[in-house]
Amino acid sequence: MQFDESNSQSKPIFAAMEKEVVLSGIRPTGFLHLGNYFGAMRNYIRMQDEYNCYFFVANWHSLTTHPDTKELKAAVRRVVAENIACGLDPNKVALYVQSDVPEIAELYLNLNMLAYKGELEKTTTFKDKVRTQPDNVNAGLLTYPVLQAADILIHRAVKVPVGKDQEQNLEMARNFAKRFNHRYGEIFPEPVAFNYGENLVKILGLDGNGKMSKSENQLATIYLADDDDLIRKKIMKSKTDQGPDKPNSVKPDYIENLFTLLKLVSTTEVVQKFEDDFNNSSAGNCIIRYGDFKKQLAEDMVKFLQPIREQATDLQNNTEVLDKIIQQGAEKARASASATIQLVRKAVLG
Ligand code: TRP
Repeated sequence: MQFDESNSQSKPIFAAMEKEVVLSGIRPTGFLHLGNYFGAMRNYIRMQDEYNCYFFVANWHSLTTHPDTKELKAAVRRVVAENIACGLDPNKVALYVQSDVPEIAELYLNLNMLAYKGELEKTTTFKDKVRTQPDNVNAGLLTYPVLQAADILIHRAVKVPVGKDQEQNLEMARNFAKRFNHRYGEIFPEPVAFNYGENLVKILGLDGNGKMSKSENQLATIYLADDDDLIRKKIMKSKTDQGPDKPNSVKPDYIENLFTLLKLVSTTEVVQKFEDDFNNSSAGNCIIRYGDFKKQLAEDMVKFLQPIREQATDLQNNTEVLDKIIQQGAEKARASASATIQLVRKAVLG
């Protein structure tokens, strides 16, 4: 529990502070898709009532790969709008843009003194980037995990909802926290990865090749920004086969994936009907018709995504409202960040 030092009775500052701090960062690259929605965002939405949540758009991190900065601004706003349209409530969580919180940069500077070249060079994400952008191996890229640690530690977060691919970055954040605490005094808890495991749904690409996001094929990924006809087109083109030729067959991955999607957006009756059709097929008499199945899935997906897309578009067009939300997020984040940075300054510089 944290206490307000200016208050002699040492009462908790806010009731919210008794809740554990959850934090996650979203890179403003690419468009959000169904894999993000069902894999990550639905978890964030569940967490917003139970935890003291900080969710932010990592725009400084994207400068490590030097994207077009004109596009970056629009991408940041789109990600904020899409997250709200999906159900993140800016009144419940701190939803902010990384660069609006300069305290993160100051903590990054301090943590850089505790990060060693050797360990940074060994991280898999750095090695990947050295391979993919050999002409731009900049120091920001090398210290990406230090900035990520600063993102987390600035709010003294303990739980970080991220996928397996971020485990190494989290381990480094724990190491920097330990070194800081050891050298300057206990300020930081050690953050751990966190998800409602059973709730994590893995969505494959519609071509059946790997995770939806990783798919090379643009038609295999459904984006939250896709219009109705594009959603229909992508689903109608998804991979199927001639159907099962005996009762209760095992579903191939790509069929299982379509059933997973149907379960997420259709009624239980509809799902049951197609499950029965699939399971009752017998030799030479395949009952399930994937054409009908896809039509149903397409219509239910359109119904599901339409309000999300429309709200996201409205928000992006409503500059004033979106600016206010972003500003309100920055204020919440800075309140917490400045408390931490004052402790850091005192600990390091006296
Ligand atoms: N590196 C993360 C990603 O690639 C994004 C990120 C930046 C992040 N800072 C963070 C995630 C802090 C969790 C916590 O997705």
